[in-house]
Amino acid sequence: MTLIFGIETSCDETSAAVIEKKESGKPALLSLVILSQDVHAVFGGVVPEIAARAHLTSIVPVADKALADAAAKFGELDAIAVTHAPGLIGALLAGVSYGKALAFSLGIPVVAVHHMEGHLFAASLEDAGAEPPFMALLVSGGHTMLIDCPEWGSYELLGATRDDAAGEAFDKVAKLLGLPYPGGRYVEELAARGTAGRFRFKPPMLDGTWKENQPGYHDVSFSGLKTAVLNAVRASTDVERDRADIARGFQDALIETLVEKTVRAADERGRSRIVLGGGVACNRTLVEAAQKRAERIGATVHSASPRLSTDNAAMIARAGLFHFERGERADLSLNAYATLPIPGLRNAVGF
Ligand code: KG4
Ligand code: ZN
Repeated sequence: MTLIFGIETSCDETSAAVIEKKESGKPALLSLVILSQDVHAVFGGVVPEIAARAHLTSIVPVADKALADAAAKFGELDAIAVTHAPGLIGALLAGVSYGKALAFSLGIPVVAVHHMEGHLFAASLEDAGAEPPFMALLVSGGHTMLIDCPEWGSYELLGATRDDAAGEAFDKVAKLLGLPYPGGRYVEELAARGTAGRFRFKPPMLDGTWKENQPGYHDVSFSGLKTAVLNAVRASTDVERDRADIARGFQDALIETLVEKTVRAADERGRSRIVLGGGVACNRTLVEAAQKRAERIGATVHSASPRLSTDNAAMIARAGLFHFERGERADLSLNAYATLPIPGLRNAVGF
């Protein structure tokens, strides 16, 4: 039996989790604690210095609770898996320092985990179908990536955003519409009350300019859509009346681009499974649109529940288990990095 303790502090969630892997069977999540730093809401975005300090004060009680909830003892752990990249450097350092100190004091190894590889593993904790080979769409506050995964540890980056991440676009549009931060789920709620077609925005990068086999075919871009929303808000004579319809138009356009690009890529690579990961995968409208479109190529869509889609340590423990089982170990010189390619990622230009 292997017990892995996961730690995640890359942004504004302080999280710890315990995963157990028996000789046979799938890894089981024994506990997960997530403390979201709501202090950032008053600033309308994450303040890096505040995030780092808040992790320092929360990490010990969060870790203790995760262990207690798993009915485990520190002495029973086999390894510590910690997010070391990418993210806010001060925030990452809080988790990396704690993880290394814990591993050193227990005499067990520390395993470095890339946050986005964690998002790739999240759905597999709940859904037995979320196993490679699959096409993955990772959509979070900082990243939007289309990744082909023939097997765990082997990833090919097919496309990415050229500007804003999908979550960032949701958050910026939320701000324009006077909604709280982080705004993705509020935009989704508002859009559900909106009328389709009253505000039509062009789904980005789908107009045929980018031809199959040309560079950029799988890329997305959301800054133009965001500007179109800004212009619609400015032109509106009654924003109160129009905001739900604007939210609906924005979400419809963004989802159409994401879904179309993902299903096309899956079709091109002959993948019959599509995995959605990252905070934006909490969006039920996105998941349902992906399911509907994927049916046309006979593919299934797999995503995690909201607590495993947004930042959490369970996915870090799961990805850590994979690397631990491959014999990978970090040492106490392990550092944190604001940007770093996912290990095993090919075509990694600029990530
Ligand atoms: O993966 P995540 O928790 O953190 C990062 O690694 O960035 O993703 C956070 C992002 C935020 O931009 C948030 O607005 C977005 O996920 N999000 C959503 C929804 N729930 C969270 N976006 C759209 N619809 C949602 N229901
Ligand atoms: Zn994330």
